[in-house]
Amino acid sequence: MFTHAITRLPGENFASGLTTAQLGSPSYPLILAQHAAYVDVLRGLGLEVTVLPALPEHPDAYFVEDPAIVTSKVAVINRPGAPARQGEETSLAAVLAQYRPLERIYHPGTVDGGDVLMVNEHFFIGLSERTNPEGAGQLGSILRRYGHTCETVPVGQGLHLKSSVNWLGDERLIVTRALADYPGFERFEKLLVEEAEAYVANTLWVNGSLLHPTGFPLTRQKLEKLGLPLIELEVSEVRKMDGGLTCMSLRF
Ligand code: GLY
Repeated sequence: MFTHAITRLPGENFASGLTTAQLGSPSYPLILAQHAAYVDVLRGLGLEVTVLPALPEHPDAYFVEDPAIVTSKVAVINRPGAPARQGEETSLAAVLAQYRPLERIYHPGTVDGGDVLMVNEHFFIGLSERTNPEGAGQLGSILRRYGHTCETVPVGQGLHLKSSVNWLGDERLIVTRALADYPGFERFEKLLVEEAEAYVANTLWVNGSLLHPTGFPLTRQKLEKLGLPLIELEVSEVRKMDGGLTCMSLRF
């Protein structure tokens, strides 16, 4: 169960962040409203939520999950894979030092937290354009030193590993067809997401509830069968910036 979350407000210049989505210009008032609704949901699920101020020099910094990883035992300060995002991690270190011992990923390693899927004490580390083998190796050594287990997964398509696969509690994953046959996922019951609804693979488990983006009726029907509380959130503006529900918080 999570007791804390760290989030960061999107800044006025958030639309100059990195994106490959061609979904139109995002609106600042709308993203603020969507972010506020997300924070409210986390609070409603019992988490104490820290909302950090925007970082004007880093328009993607509200995707606070990427520059750090927090486990039950340690916080890892990442070296983000996109040069424009390097530096976002600096102010997080002081915040996370209040909760966990700190470790770091060093040059030439790069890791984005969006590539790191936690399933209890086991970690799947996606190898992507953002997380390189050196970074994954450093992270794996840190995690094992703190008693965790881990393995790497080739991400293939999509920005991050968690663009395509997420944990749904117990021994269940939500996963796109592209990653469904990865041998490391064999032991899981899989909720398959069809290509047309791929974005909803970014569904987030928080304390037994599932937060998912609005607008994916086929997958919603499958999620309903799990019998867990479902919370639909509008994240249209976040999506325009290649982000989603998992990227907007660090939960621990
Ligand atoms: N805009 C999120 C990212 O590209 O890292």
